[in-house]
Amino acid sequence: MEVFDDRRGSAVMVAAFLALLYVGVTLISLGPRSISLQGSLMSWTHSTAPSLTQAHVSITCDRPPRDYDLCSINGSSLLDPNSSTFFIMDPNRSNQTDVVMKIHPYPRKKDKTAISLVKEINIVATPPKVPCGVTHNSPALVFSTGGYTGNFFHDLNEGLIPLYITVQTIFYDQDIILVISDWRERWFRKYADLLLHLTHHPVINMDNQTATHCFPSVTVGLIKHGAMVINTTMVPHPKTLVTFQELLQNAYSNTSNTLGLDNIDLEKHKSSSARPRLVIIQREGAGAGRVILNIEEVTAVSEEVGFEVEVLKPRQSSRLADSYRLIHGSHAMIGVHGAGMTHLFFLRPGSVLGQIIPLGTEFVSWDCFEKPARVLGLRYSKYEIEVAESSLIEKFKVDELVLKNPKAYVGGNWSNMHVYMRVQNVKLDIPRFRRFLKRVYENAREFMDKGY
Ligand SMILES: *[C@@H]1O[C@H](CO)[C@@H](O)[C@H](O)[C@H]1NC(C)=O
Ligand SMILES: *[C@@H]1O[C@H](CO)[C@@H](O)[C@H](O)[C@H]1NC(C)=O
Ligand SMILES: *[C@@H]1O[C@H](CO)[C@@H](O)[C@H](O)[C@H]1NC(C)=O
Ligand SMILES: *[C@@H]1O[C@H](CO)[C@@H](O)[C@H](O)[C@H]1NC(C)=O
Ligand SMILES: *[C@@H]1O[C@H](CO)[C@@H](O)[C@H](O)[C@H]1NC(C)=O
Ligand SMILES: *[C@@H]1O[C@H](CO)[C@@H](O)[C@H](O)[C@H]1NC(C)=O
Ligand SMILES: *[C@@H]1O[C@H](CO)[C@@H](O)[C@H](O)[C@H]1NC(C)=O
Ligand SMILES: *[C@@H]1O[C@H](CO)[C@@H](O)[C@H](O)[C@H]1NC(C)=O
Repeated sequence: MEVFDDRRGSAVMVAAFLALLYVGVTLISLGPRSISLQGSLMSWTHSTAPSLTQAHVSITCDRPPRDYDLCSINGSSLLDPNSSTFFIMDPNRSNQTDVVMKIHPYPRKKDKTAISLVKEINIVATPPKVPCGVTHNSPALVFSTGGYTGNFFHDLNEGLIPLYITVQTIFYDQDIILVISDWRERWFRKYADLLLHLTHHPVINMDNQTATHCFPSVTVGLIKHGAMVINTTMVPHPKTLVTFQELLQNAYSNTSNTLGLDNIDLEKHKSSSARPRLVIIQREGAGAGRVILNIEEVTAVSEEVGFEVEVLKPRQSSRLADSYRLIHGSHAMIGVHGAGMTHLFFLRPGSVLGQIIPLGTEFVSWDCFEKPARVLGLRYSKYEIEVAESSLIEKFKVDELVLKNPKAYVGGNWSNMHVYMRVQNVKLDIPRFRRFLKRVYENAREFMDKGY
């Protein structure tokens, strides 16, 4: 068990307690024992005798308009896992201080479906009634692996990228303890190799703890900058999607190949090196949508234009080390817009990403994958399907809005995307697709001829 001394700064007299809860950079301080709520801005103070050596432990919450909430306690805190509550440990604080902050530590706060799968965490200014069970001497970072966890895109977009941003922004070069609520064993096993690069301590599963845990400080929530974005101007150290990619590389490049994928042995490939290698991402599963219906024809024509082809059907249980080996050794990757395209993080800069864009998915295709592909230095090209290549042609007439004008049909309501995301599959027009593949091939060939 680790021990932590609560009295850092020996002569500390906690004669006053101050909690400031703020949005953005605005801080408002009010008189003693007053509570004020102004929109989402809240400030609360309580003070007794003044002192020259006060140590204020405060709860600070940042609630920007989009995506995430983030709350911290900048002093000793106790976690009672039974009530998912963090308490400020300050024996001199009044018992009547009933400030309770509630937070869903999953950076997709406007999404009701996602948030319904995320447990709420409480942060209170009242002192705990129970003593410390386990005492730690490193700060805690608390987040949820509920929500849409299990989908590779969301695992990165609401999970690993925000986790990376938060660590770089708040805990740069610090020893931290990760505390996870809505624990998913499968998530943990999938990303355990990567988590080792962020913390030296065992990860705490908040859901199955019976003992209380004490930390010198706590941060609840993850910072997000946007879809697949790390905004360099918002992190104190020069961090980007490229440095995030290095983290993935460190985690997955040196792990052994366990699935017996000997046919993709990189060394063997280098020696034969006649053809550039193409990975085709294919979706599967009941109700997945966006499946390439004529995958055999697509594979055949890809071989015909000169590729060595590997079809990858990502599963939740896929080991990332295996997909990493396969994709990192390839010269091009193509696939229909979907979570599997997140594997673009495993491609080498200069290699080619081809995105097949079904009807109605232009914006999300750009936002989720074209944007990061460009940041990572991939050669990006897109294939926008024609109406005749969409399976929706069998369900709707060509003059119906759903086919004629998807943007108008959706009308800004995400629920209406269902038909494009889940109902729609694609049957690629082979002569048309061949022209696209030729371009992908030429770029991949060029990349390979540079010695990759
Ligand atoms: C609490 O207050 C008492 C009396 O003012 C003081 O002696 C004590 O050191 C304080 N405790 C802490 C943890 O600051
Ligand atoms: C905690 O934050 C408050 C407000 O920002 C500050 O006044 C106080 O000194 C901080 N306390 C510690 C222990 O860092
Ligand atoms: C808090 O309440 C307990 C019991 O109700 C009392 O013994 C203690 O003195 C109170 N502490 C403060 C700081 O008011
Ligand atoms: C809690 O869950 C973690 C992760 O599955 C496991 O390693 C640990 O043994 C569990 N602890 C208890 C007390 O059940
Ligand atoms: C939490 O609940 C468990 C099981 O009911 C109990 O054994 C444990 O003492 C409780 N812990 C706290 C801190 O109340
Ligand atoms: C990055 O953040 C800055 C400051 O908040 C903002 O002005 C800029 O538009 C952001 N850039 C991107 C690409 O989002
Ligand atoms: C890869 O792992 C092996 C065994 O764990 C180790 O000996 C080797 O130094 C590692 N290589 C790199 C490049 O990290
Ligand atoms: C969005 O579309 C769904 C399904 O078409 C409908 O039930 C819902 O009321 C719409 N929501 C809004 C805000 O218009």
